[in-house]
Amino acid sequence: MIVAIDGPAASGKGTLARRLAAHYGLPHLDSGLLYRAVAHRLSSLGGDLADADAAATVARALDVATLNDPALRGRHAGEGASVVSAHPGVRAALLDFQRDFAAMPPGAVIDGRDIGTVICPQAHVKIFVTASAEERARRRAAELAGRGEPVDREAILADIRRRDERDMSRAVAPLKAAEDAVTLDTTTLDADAAFKAALAIVEARAGERRRA
Ligand code: DC
Repeated sequence: MIVAIDGPAASGKGTLARRLAAHYGLPHLDSGLLYRAVAHRLSSLGGDLADADAAATVARALDVATLNDPALRGRHAGEGASVVSAHPGVRAALLDFQRDFAAMPPGAVIDGRDIGTVICPQAHVKIFVTASAEERARRRAAELAGRGEPVDREAILADIRRRDERDMSRAVAPLKAAEDAVTLDTTTLDADAAFKAALAIVEARAGERRRA
């Protein structure tokens, strides 16, 4: 079974994807980490994130063993990822890795922006996870505070809005729900309620497939 979870920054899609993967015993891929790793590597080489050729070269040479570097989780890498992910050459370089990951039995749960639309249009279940920008900023602030990091609420909200705008307006593989995705708005749901709702969506889809 392939489960595609897409949605904007800080929508909680990563947590949901991880929990669904654990529940069904499937491998999980956080595809945002690939773009974060490209941005991080390019920055550490002194490159310009706006340089499409340099970014694509880094993406083609990406070592996926570096994906668990904690530096990739930070705000800086996220912002950089949003910039490099708009380069078509970067997206093309990362496509096969994601498709191969999904194609391996017994399937996978993959989260990102274009999993249901571009990477795995054949996914058995597609969930588009969303929440208001204010609620996403509140969650991100709580997460940073929990890690003892400084919190500037206005800056976080501005960051989220900028990222939404960039991710939705890019020419290649913009953030949007696939036509056959189920939208899950988690604005008023806590993590457990969101997981229950996601599980119900997967089970309903799996049931439909069994009957078909
Ligand atoms: O999900 P995230 O915050 O780790 O993603 C960081 C950036 O990477 C995001 O702003 C856009 C980009 N991205 C993408 O373009 N396509 C994906 N499938 C995943 C992430």
